[in-house]
Amino acid sequence: MEQIVNPQLKGHTGIGHTRWATHGAPTDDNAHPHANANGRIAIVHNGIIENYVSLRKYLEHLGVTFKSDTDTEVLVQLIGRFYKGDLEQAVRRALHDVAGTYGITVICADEPDVIVAARKGSPLIIGVGQGEHVIASDASAILAHTSQVVYLEDGEIARVTPSEFRLTTLEAIPVNREVEEVEWSLDQIELAGYEHFMQKEIFEQPTAMENCLRGRIDLEEGQVRLGGLVDCTRELIRTKRFILTACGTAWHSALVGEYLFEEIIRIPTEVEYASEFRYRNPIVEEGTTVIAVSQSGETTDTQAALREAKQRGALVLGVVNVVGSTIARETDAGVYLHVGPEIGVASTKAFTGQVAVLALMACYLGRRKHMSVASSTLFLTALSRIPDQMRETLKGADQAKEVAARFHQCENWLYLGRGFNYPLALEGALKLKEISYIHAEGLPAAEMKHGPIALITEGMPVVFIATAGSQYEKIMSNVEEVRSRGGSIIAIATEGDREIARHADHVIFVPDTIEPLQPLLASIPLQLIAYHAAVLRGCNVDKPRNLAKSVTVE
Ligand code: AGP
Repeated sequence: MEQIVNPQLKGHTGIGHTRWATHGAPTDDNAHPHANANGRIAIVHNGIIENYVSLRKYLEHLGVTFKSDTDTEVLVQLIGRFYKGDLEQAVRRALHDVAGTYGITVICADEPDVIVAARKGSPLIIGVGQGEHVIASDASAILAHTSQVVYLEDGEIARVTPSEFRLTTLEAIPVNREVEEVEWSLDQIELAGYEHFMQKEIFEQPTAMENCLRGRIDLEEGQVRLGGLVDCTRELIRTKRFILTACGTAWHSALVGEYLFEEIIRIPTEVEYASEFRYRNPIVEEGTTVIAVSQSGETTDTQAALREAKQRGALVLGVVNVVGSTIARETDAGVYLHVGPEIGVASTKAFTGQVAVLALMACYLGRRKHMSVASSTLFLTALSRIPDQMRETLKGADQAKEVAARFHQCENWLYLGRGFNYPLALEGALKLKEISYIHAEGLPAAEMKHGPIALITEGMPVVFIATAGSQYEKIMSNVEEVRSRGGSIIAIATEGDREIARHADHVIFVPDTIEPLQPLLASIPLQLIAYHAAVLRGCNVDKPRNLAKSVTVE
């Protein structure tokens, strides 16, 4: 650490680490980079070496002493044991003994111009500059230097110097890989005058939604254009069952997708947590299409789930934001969100982007099965109005701030919704939990009477997504259930609803749209309530404790 602040530091090759260490407490000894015994080789590592305990025992038996509790130090000590003057060879040899996941960069004092990088299960990208190369786990860390990048695949090693880079497999087979252009610009990544990236990303959702929908809706024909699906459309039409697999917020958007697919395509659809799907010996019969939903395209559990589905013969699609990410490259086909880089750990525009893409996919396939031109034109007209309706919704941002100001010290919240808004209740609760550290639970509103209503205490904040629709009367009776037991009612309702204010303590209105698309608008007040509660509680909004933007470990 003292080296970083030392202005006298000289050199043109270096490595650093800004991710959480996965082993040992966050202490100086456990902080990366880690060095081998003689201090001439150093490493930074993202991932988990699963057999590090046995490797550590083997190295200790050879007389190696360790300074840290990390798996990463075991790897650099192993590389040091194999080093005979060729760093790339020593890394290759050591990785043959390793089980687990890694995205590493390694340097050696005896080869001052060389960085060796390798990946398996954790992303790595080489930025190709003028007389320099920059290696990182995410393109946003490279963009200040260059927009020309090369993506490493699992099982590949790169030997990088200021003037060139060489890719090989673990078996030393040369790899040719095209240099690609990153589509994002640096200013898309900067704060642009906002307090936090999350705030910026909430307010840029109208533009992000326009970018997501651009060129994909043909209102004349009532058609959807998804270039990424053209080559597999015939197989897609013959799908007998859809499985959507994801984690966290992406799982919530996938749950909206389940409702959209079954409503519009009329094909059985289910949602699976990727971490469960990958291990539970899932049934993937003939005619199954699996869709992996992931903003980063690097989530380890989602990657593993799609690989599991592929090896069982499913057609695997991706709904991904980061172009060129692992999931985007490993699926048979897919649709990018095009909502721009999402920097805040809490997903906002990616959630609405995922729901919008799943809605497009539902309509794309619906029109090739039962959906009439009239119905698809109605659906797509409503979808094309969403960006402007998001702008309308954002005008009421202060109401969410008022709700947060009143309830941010309450330690338990409930979020309730029905139908298409039930997944949104789960998402609203997750937003509050992950950035303000308040305990919150999302539930189907009708589930209250099966136990959770016992939780209601005087003044407890309960958020109802009570927008106009087929279950409005039902949800109003759920509102009364809670209100009569002293709960404080916060309602997300449809503009023009004259009834709701008589039953709720706070009402935030959103413009009217068709039920399947209501999550795209009702999510915005929930994002803002969570954001302002976190700010009022002094939390680190963009980098909440214990969380990472992309979970590339199990
Ligand atoms: C959501 O706010 C969280 N950041 C987290 O749940 C996230 O959605 C999840 O880790 C999945 O990430 P992915 O979409 O990049 O796969």
